[in-house]
Amino acid sequence: MILKSYNNVIMELSAPFLASYWQYIASVFAGIFIAQVMRGVFQQKKQGYTVDVDPMQDGETADIPQSDPRELGDNDQIPYPWFEDRLTEEQMKQKSAEFYEKMNKRRTVRKISDEDVPLEVVENIIKTAGTSPSGAHTEPWTFVVVQDKSVKAEIRRIVEEKEYLNYGRRMGEQWVKDIEYFKTTWAKPYIDTAPYLILVFKQVYGFNEDGSKKMHYYNEMSVCISVGLLLAAIQNAGLVTVTSTPMNAGPQLRELLGRKSNEKLILLLPLGYPDKQAMMPNIRRKPLKDIMVLK
Ligand SMILES: Cc1cc2nc3c(=O)[nH]c(=O)nc-3n(C[C@H](O)[C@H](O)[C@H](O)COP(=O)(O)O)c2cc1C
Repeated sequence: MILKSYNNVIMELSAPFLASYWQYIASVFAGIFIAQVMRGVFQQKKQGYTVDVDPMQDGETADIPQSDPRELGDNDQIPYPWFEDRLTEEQMKQKSAEFYEKMNKRRTVRKISDEDVPLEVVENIIKTAGTSPSGAHTEPWTFVVVQDKSVKAEIRRIVEEKEYLNYGRRMGEQWVKDIEYFKTTWAKPYIDTAPYLILVFKQVYGFNEDGSKKMHYYNEMSVCISVGLLLAAIQNAGLVTVTSTPMNAGPQLRELLGRKSNEKLILLLPLGYPDKQAMMPNIRRKPLKDIMVLK
């Protein structure tokens, strides 16, 4: 009896009420929905830099909290120290043209001599790579330099094992066709013959002094820029390399070289003199008009 009259009251109240005020009710619900969405977006931005900080970033950095800002000391800002080194316009034109000529002679050389290279030269090349800019000056790179013959042989074994599978099964037909021109195969003899191998790791994140994880912004982009400088330094020293991506061999090589799990292998570069028998594809580079747009 009581239930019945309660239902009647609700029906009488709700039907005309809803009919007259449904637009207002709908706008209240829409407002609540929009507020929830906005809250989600702004909270995410504040907590963990997960929103569009680094388009190439790995998921495992998502939980790294924002660190406290550094305290600024007296020597934190210095004037640019090299104003005296300013070149005249003539000198600039000459130097930039000479540098271009030098870099234009850079080629990927897949046959490398076993002739030794002074370690000091290698160190200077790596130091040059280390001058690269990096996201928030995090310097998220490790260059593992291998000269030990047995380690090189093991690296070659691992890379060739993976490359054999890559060429046979993993790379699509089109990909294999595209690289036919370069006459590359799964075999990588330069890994053994080159006096040094440089394995470039990106540090997906770093560590603070207390052991907590430290955000490495734009780590992949930063490492790739440092490799650009590395290639220029190799060319400047009169040596050659192969910019190679050891597909699928990264985790095994990382373990072999005793690197931590925050580091991921990006490139493997053999370093040495070109072999006298080295041949390479007769490629042409795009002219300036096709790569530069002046507005
Ligand atoms: C990101 C990247 C990955 C590459 N991977 C390989 C590779 O795995 N093996 C290889 O023989 N060459 C590799 N190369 C070299 C290119 O084939 C070479 O740079 C290109 O053909 C142009 O020739 P050049 O370097 O003589 O100017 C790579 C180059 C880049 C930039």
